[in-house]
Amino acid sequence: MKSGWTGGMTNSTETTVKLGEDFAKFIEVGDVFAFIGELASGKTTFIKGILKGLDFEKSVTSPTFTLVNEYDAKYPVIHIDCYREEDLERWLKLGINDYLSDDNIVFIEWADKMKPLLPENTFHINFSHKSSNSREIILSNS
Ligand SMILES: Nc1ncnc2c1ncn2[C@@H]1O[C@H](COP(=O)(O)OP(=O)(O)O)[C@@H](O)[C@H]1O
Ligand SMILES: [Mg+2]
Repeated sequence: MKSGWTGGMTNSTETTVKLGEDFAKFIEVGDVFAFIGELASGKTTFIKGILKGLDFEKSVTSPTFTLVNEYDAKYPVIHIDCYREEDLERWLKLGINDYLSDDNIVFIEWADKMKPLLPENTFHINFSHKSSNSREIILSNS
């Protein structure tokens, strides 16, 4: 990831999409992002914006049940959701290490549930639900 992005505060769904779109400019192939934050804190909305910024025009939904989505965007993007699957053995069987390839950009919602499987250089983005429409989205060290 290129340096210079620290995060932001948003006050609508649309501004979170926009923040994601801007964030996309800082992403480099091989980056892995852990998105941490409670339900409805804006993780999927932010990822929708990133995909927009990476020229992906089709719809983006959280892979809550399918666990992994693959998008053929400007670069290959893998979108993972751990909410319903905390079993690390199952993630290994699903091929998590293949998804975490240097050729991909990887976004992981609820990544705290698979912490032991994450590469050391994973970027952590924390989401906080501040009030009904405001969300704080910040890059953190862990
Ligand atoms: N500032 C905001 N940023 C993101 N989502 C917001 C915001 N304000 C309201 N919302 C709403 O909150 C919900 C966020 O859902 P989502 O992005 O799916 O969260 P998560 O993936 O963290 O569960 C959506 O219904 C969205 O429209
Ligand atoms: Mg989600």
